[in-house]
Amino acid sequence: MLEDLVQKNRSYRRFHEDVPVGVATLRELIDLARLSASARNMQPLRYILCTDRDTNAAIFSTLAWAGYLKDWPGPVEGERPAAYVVVLADTTNVIHNYVGVDHGLAMQNILLGAVERGLGGCIIGSIQRDRLRKTLAIPERYEILVVVALGAPKETVVVDEVGLDGDIKYWRDTAGVHHVPKRSLDDLIIAELK
Ligand SMILES: Cc1cc2nc3c(=O)[nH]c(=O)nc-3n(C[C@H](O)[C@H](O)[C@H](O)COP(=O)(O)O)c2cc1C
Repeated sequence: MLEDLVQKNRSYRRFHEDVPVGVATLRELIDLARLSASARNMQPLRYILCTDRDTNAAIFSTLAWAGYLKDWPGPVEGERPAAYVVVLADTTNVIHNYVGVDHGLAMQNILLGAVERGLGGCIIGSIQRDRLRKTLAIPERYEILVVVALGAPKETVVVDEVGLDGDIKYWRDTAGVHHVPKRSLDDLIIAELK
């Protein structure tokens, strides 16, 4: 079950934009994030949820998509995310500016929860942060960490094994299938101490 969800939890970048993701669903996903581990249990993460069409468009304009796909500027209208979660750190709620890996854990819970609900998403770290801050009137005390784009996926993503050339760049075939090369298990485990 978990293995299946993890396998299906790929980065999706094309969506059925007309399939709504309700605020209630986003709240359920944040409730999963809420329960993730947190360094010193400081729980510094805060979230802005957006399902509003116009605001979605404004958020979209601050994001960069799939850097390796040089000829693809990102999803066209109609294939854009139906919802966004902006992940913030409350800088008044961290010690020595240390958020650690809190947002990684939280996002994984959010995305696994999305996949379980037939949705999917993509973590976006390449953000014009100043523009996004202005657009959403985010107070300075909140650091913008990442944006999670969500929706009903409209693309097939498959996992391949990294080839002999060692190339880890994802790519899209002529049928539009998105391929993600992953390193093999044996390439990752550098020691097994028994
Ligand atoms: C911290 C982080 C930042 C990312 N930023 C972007 C981004 O700005 N734009 C994008 O299209 N994908 C982004 N991704 C998605 C990665 O490209 C994706 O995880 C990778 O290609 C592997 O694909 P997979 O998620 O299907 O395993 C990001 C992923 C992570 C974890």
